[in-house]
Amino acid sequence: MQAWRLLSRSFLPPDQQKSLLAYTPMFHSKMFGEKSNYRDAHFQPLKSGAASPPDAYHVSQVEDGDRHLDGNPMFDRPLMVQFCSNDPDDFLRAAKHVAPFCDAVDLNLGCPQGIAKRGKYGAFLQEDQGLIARMISKLHKELEVPVTAKMRVLETKEKTLEYAKTILDAGASIITVHGRRREQKGHNTGLADWQMIRYLRESLPKDTVIFANGNILQHEDIAACLEATGADGVMSAEGNLYDPTIFAPPPPIGQEGHEYWRGRNGKGGYRVDAVMRRYMDIIHKHALGQQPPVRKPLWMPGDPEEPPKQEQTPSEEGEEEDGPPKKKQKRLSKAEQKKAKSSNPNLTAMQAHLFHMLRPLVSEHHNVRDALARSRTGDIDAFENVLVLVEQAVKQGIQAYESSPPTDAPEPLSSTENLDPYESSLATVARCKRPYWVCQPYVRPLPKEAIEKGSMTVSKKEKKRMEEEETKAVGLEVGGRVEGKDQSTGETLGKENLQASEKREEKGEGVVEEPREGVVCG
Ligand SMILES: Cc1cc2nc3c(=O)[nH]c(=O)nc-3n(C[C@H](O)[C@H](O)[C@H](O)COP(=O)(O)O)c2cc1C
Repeated sequence: MQAWRLLSRSFLPPDQQKSLLAYTPMFHSKMFGEKSNYRDAHFQPLKSGAASPPDAYHVSQVEDGDRHLDGNPMFDRPLMVQFCSNDPDDFLRAAKHVAPFCDAVDLNLGCPQGIAKRGKYGAFLQEDQGLIARMISKLHKELEVPVTAKMRVLETKEKTLEYAKTILDAGASIITVHGRRREQKGHNTGLADWQMIRYLRESLPKDTVIFANGNILQHEDIAACLEATGADGVMSAEGNLYDPTIFAPPPPIGQEGHEYWRGRNGKGGYRVDAVMRRYMDIIHKHALGQQPPVRKPLWMPGDPEEPPKQEQTPSEEGEEEDGPPKKKQKRLSKAEQKKAKSSNPNLTAMQAHLFHMLRPLVSEHHNVRDALARSRTGDIDAFENVLVLVEQAVKQGIQAYESSPPTDAPEPLSSTENLDPYESSLATVARCKRPYWVCQPYVRPLPKEAIEKGSMTVSKKEKKRMEEEETKAVGLEVGGRVEGKDQSTGETLGKENLQASEKREEKGEGVVEEPREGVVCG
């Protein structure tokens, strides 16, 4: 959602923010083209209810103040709007609604979910490449902005290359290649195959623009992926959801400032309280159209202890203890908040975004987890209260860390260092794991680890295929932490509960990571 895109960009130096190309979530082209309420719930470029699709003249006359955040040239570009589709006319109709507000329209051919199978779109169009070509070709000829596509790899290099060529020959300006096959999802996600992307790079014409996707867990993986694949760019989805700062290089040692935390071993990350503050401020400003509360400077180790105070509420007083009274802040009325709440995609996404980012923190601080779980869409005060609790938890964690005496002994050599990341996720966990108060990726368990843990059962055919794959030479460096946790609550679950949780995930019940119908993932 746009607030998250803004947040992600905000960590880059201003002159680099435009180098971050963002994608909307996937929209269902038929629904998007036909239903204005579906459009309003997912993509809001203009404040006034102008007729859609808008004509170029009207868009050129729109004043900055009449724009929402979606596709806003000041904050939300470059932007790709992504659709799933299985009909050229539906695809074009949907694309026309967004073309004046984005830089390209992307066709998602990667979605592997059951809903995509039932609806015949996403990765389930791989068997109907003629239809894919017709859809892309239609937009290439009739849409005023470029069309691009995101594909998964197929079983062999040859088939993948043919598939990519079909997409490109039809007129796609960019292909994003997710280096996993369609069946690699859920516990069977495993690792993306960067070598397959490298093969495409070497086999396709040099001027083909390729984005690589998969295995990007930390900032350093971006360069590693570009190097290994030769791609022109890298797409990150989950890595960015768990750590919206992933695209920003870490600050140099000694220049951490208030927001970045570095441990004694030199490893660190942006503090989750700092990132949540930025996120909340963006929500106040851009989703609710009001001034964010005046906040005290972020707590730092060494700050003098303050006498305990009542929980902070969003500052309505507009006054500080010292100094002249500040201007009263504009806050929305209850009725206005309710309206914004039901229609604003940023507000509906807040809880899920925060559960992702705070995953390690909430698994230790259950009060935060419970407060977040209770926070209803649009109840900004409830989310502000979560922020207060997050700040307390971060302070507690850093204080405990600071008070544990530094040891002069060299760090023990990790027993996981030499593990093959395709065999075990432990090395990846060791590489990525940070204290709960900084943003960090979630490392998925490898399929074989999920099987060993009993979280996944496999058919004989699949087992054979996996055994064959194990013998393949591979050279990537990303894996998965073996965890059995409820995705929405972060709670550690036993096998039975985990399976129940996964069933709920499949059905999309009460699970924050599960994309909603019409906004399913690829
Ligand atoms: C919660 C979630 C939502 C996703 N939604 C989309 C989507 O709307 N469109 C899309 O192309 N891919 C979507 N994906 C897939 C990612 O784009 C990506 O292909 C995949 O997660 C692997 O890349 P990553 O390792 O960077 O996450 C989604 C993935 C997740 C986990």
